[in-house]
Amino acid sequence: MKYFFLSYIFVGAIIVSAFGFRGSKSELPPIEVFPDMDHQAKVKYQASSDFFADGRGARLPVKNTVPMGFEIPAKAAANGAKPARFGFTNGLDYYNTGKMGDFYGDGLPVEITSDASVFNEAFLKRGEQRYNIHCAICHGTSGNGKGVTSKYGILTAFNFQQPGNTDPANAAAFRADGAIFDVITNGKGLMGSYGGNITVRDRWAIVAYIRALQLAAKESGATLQ
Ligand code: HEC
Repeated sequence: MKYFFLSYIFVGAIIVSAFGFRGSKSELPPIEVFPDMDHQAKVKYQASSDFFADGRGARLPVKNTVPMGFEIPAKAAANGAKPARFGFTNGLDYYNTGKMGDFYGDGLPVEITSDASVFNEAFLKRGEQRYNIHCAICHGTSGNGKGVTSKYGILTAFNFQQPGNTDPANAAAFRADGAIFDVITNGKGLMGSYGGNITVRDRWAIVAYIRALQLAAKESGATLQ
């Protein structure tokens, strides 16, 4: 009998604790059984702090910090260098977005093709290098979509080598240069965005290199399947 009453009280306590106070409102902060990392020692914005000698909580960025989206200038401005080129997406034109109005454009933008110091063999080499750094792990060095990740069954990336393949899943191989540029900038589906890592010019260099890969695959007959 004793055990009956004990378990009766125990079950009652569980029911009350689980359901009893549901919906009731309180001004008090909730009881935190597991506070996780809700409370941390930190300085709130615009607040002072005794920790620093000057008493200010807000600190200046560490010297030589480069803000996200900017390139490190080749030479310090004091040496008479031009101001740093804004290398990341900065505008709504074709060069920056791959789009002309609402539509993807095709072909490399004039900002690249009209400048012989940019549009040369080194441009394609740069594209190859950037592709191998950023894209090859998933899309494969030859662009066949069988990068390292596919070996571990993590991802099956898009196969650039099949422009002749009419499978709609591979339709992107037919897509305009601007569309590929946009995928690099913003990502698509399972693929993340690389707009914050790769400068605009390098993105176009990668697009050019992908076209070179496709041509090479076509020459070697890799697309005939
Ligand atoms: C982490 C793996 C990974 C990396 C790195 C990666 N991709 Fe992808 N990519 C994918 C996957 C997966 C898809 C298929 C996305 C989907 O349809 O969900 C894809 C799709 C694409 C497509 C086709 C999108 C469409 O229109 O359907 C293009 C173009 C592309 N990637 C270009 C690139 C380029 C260029 C790079 C390098 C800057 C790159 N990817 C880096 C995994 C990756």
